[in-house]
This record gives sequence, structure tokens and C-alpha cells, in this order.
Amino acid sequence: MMALKRIGVLTGGGDCPGLNAVIRAVVKTAKSHNIEVWGIKNGFGGLVENQMIELSTLNVSGILPRGGTILGTTNRDNPFKYRIYKDGQLTYEDMSGQAMENLAEKGIEALVVIGGDGTLRIGAEFGQLGLPVVCVPKTIDNDIPGTERTFGFDTAVSVASDALDRLHTTAESHHRVMVLEVMGRYAGWIALHSGLAGGADCILIPEIPYNLEAVKAKIVERQKQNKLFSIIVVAEGAREVDGELIGTKPAEGSSEKIRLGGIGDKLAKDIENSIGVESRCTVLGHLQRGGSPTAFDRILATRYGVAAVECLLTGKTGNMVALQNNRIITIPVNELAGKPGNVPIDSDLVNAARSINISFGD
Ligand code: F6P
Repeated sequence: MMALKRIGVLTGGGDCPGLNAVIRAVVKTAKSHNIEVWGIKNGFGGLVENQMIELSTLNVSGILPRGGTILGTTNRDNPFKYRIYKDGQLTYEDMSGQAMENLAEKGIEALVVIGGDGTLRIGAEFGQLGLPVVCVPKTIDNDIPGTERTFGFDTAVSVASDALDRLHTTAESHHRVMVLEVMGRYAGWIALHSGLAGGADCILIPEIPYNLEAVKAKIVERQKQNKLFSIIVVAEGAREVDGELIGTKPAEGSSEKIRLGGIGDKLAKDIENSIGVESRCTVLGHLQRGGSPTAFDRILATRYGVAAVECLLTGKTGNMVALQNNRIITIPVNELAGKPGNVPIDSDLVNAARSINISFGD
């Protein structure tokens, strides 16, 4: 057992239901070992800017069902390439040394980093500077390699499934095609799971570029069977064969990624203009990321938080906690680099969907 007096916890990247449940579990587990916990505010930016608060069990009381993160987060700050505005010009500097100094000054000996792929990579870099770090995988997209589940995903799927149930009744009444655009930048897990749970006719995911003709054929096939409406779920990162990602491109020189959005609208227009079936698109957007976590996500997040502190105590640093076969395990973060977190296109879920005649537009 490592003798720890004080640890830090931070949330980085896009928020996600269940972050507070992890923070609560970290604080409660640490307190039971007489370890003080400091919360770093606003992700890695707060580490550079020295924004830290002590977390007592009172601070985390009542936060289990709350969405968002009590610590704040950002997906823009990387201490190793920190954005600094000098004379109105954007420059980048390595501020990791400053971050390490801030931790040392507070006596914080180790860090629990809760985040997605970008955040976990930064966590691993701090590990290389000698800071004991344990990572907790978070993202509604469920696309982190090494774990079967990231917390937040189940909540997003339940929001998307509920939306599909609601779209079904209005689609049926108006004999329309209803397209639901869900999140999923590189991976189609949300589209796949919600499409199965919500009885979609087509599921379009980044892993399987779609052919418009195949999507139209599915709608026409249904019409011939006197099913005059169709439901399509499309991941924001899906694209047509030979097509491009749709969204707002970042300014030139910026290190930000394309802000995805618009594939659903394009698809609805393409369908209406080509086969004349009235079509509408609903973009779920950040509704999938907000609000209270499901019971599954609260439990998973709690298990991850407990396991993360236990890892620090047993010296298993440089690891990410993960779920495999419903057991919490640990994986060295540096083994995750380059591994895919996407939907395997021959997975049993994809095959099950195909068996019940769901089209992937291929
Ligand atoms: O990574 C999670 C995610 O929800 C993606 O699916 C989506 O592209 C992105 O975050 C949106 O991020 P932001 O809130 O920064 O627009």
C-alpha cells in the first residue's frame, strides 16, 4: 500500500453524465483511507492556472444523480501545448512544468484523471514526468479502446432511444421519413445501440460509409409493404461512400477538430429531393450529454472511482480502469495508443441488426 496524504482529481474533455458520480466515489474512497482530495477546476487548464479546491464529503453529497461536473471541464487546454494569447496572437507554450509546480506546492502526490482519449493522453504524459496518475474512461461515444463501456454512454443511448420512440409516432402519422442525428464522432456506438433499441429501419455509422441508393431502396421497400414511414438514425461522423464529414471546419491554423453536424439534414433533403417522401431531421446534440445519468452509469462511474483510488494505493499507476466481462480491470494507458475503439463491422450487434433487416446503407 502506498502511503498517500493528498490526491487530486480532474475532469477533462466534453462533459458526460456520471462525472460527478466518479468524483463522489473518489472522494468517499480516499476519505476512508484518510486521504485528502483536491479537485482541479476546469480540466488541465485549472492545473496550469492553479485553480484547485479541497473536496470534503460534504462537497460531494447529493451529486450522484447530477449531470455535468462540479469541477468544470474543457476540451481545449493541454498543458504541454498551452494556448496563450500574446499581443492578440495565439501561441502555444509548454506549461507542464508550471502544472507540476502547482501540484507540488499543494502537496498533491497523485492524480485521478477522468476523461476521453485526449485527456487520457495528457494524463499519460504527466505520468512520464513522474506524477502517479490513474485514468478513468469517460465519453458518451463509448470509443475508448480497452474497455467495453465508458460511463455516460448508457445515458446517451437512453436519451436517443426515447427520441426515436417519440419520432416513431409522428413519422407514422405523417407518413414521413424521420432522420435522427446522434453524436458519435468516430464511432457509431450510440447510433447502433439506440437504433436497435428504438426500432430504426436504417442505422448509418462512421465505420460503414453509406450509399444513398441503398438507403432510398430501404424506404421504397417499406412503402411496397405498405409501411409508409421510415426511421433513420445517423451518427454525426457518418458519411456517404466517397463523401466528406459534414460540419463547421475550424479556422486555419487552429488545432481544433471539425465541429460535426449536418449529415442528418443533408440526408433528409437528399431523400426528399430524390424519391419525394417528406423527410425531417432532428439533431439531438448536447441533449445526449446533459442531465442525470442512468442507474447503469451511476454504478459504473462509482465502480471506476473506487477502483481508481485503489489503483493509486496499490501503486498501479499509469493505468486506466476499464470494464471487461463486467469486471473492473486495469490497463496500462500506453498500451491503448493506436488501438481502435470503433464498432467492429462484423460484431454480433451489427449482425443482429442485419438479421432483423435493418439497413446500414451498404
Ligand atoms: O466526444 C464526445 C462528443 O460528444 C462527440 O460525439 C462530439 O463530436 C463532441 O463531443 C462535441 O463536442 P463539443 O461539445 O465540444 O462541441
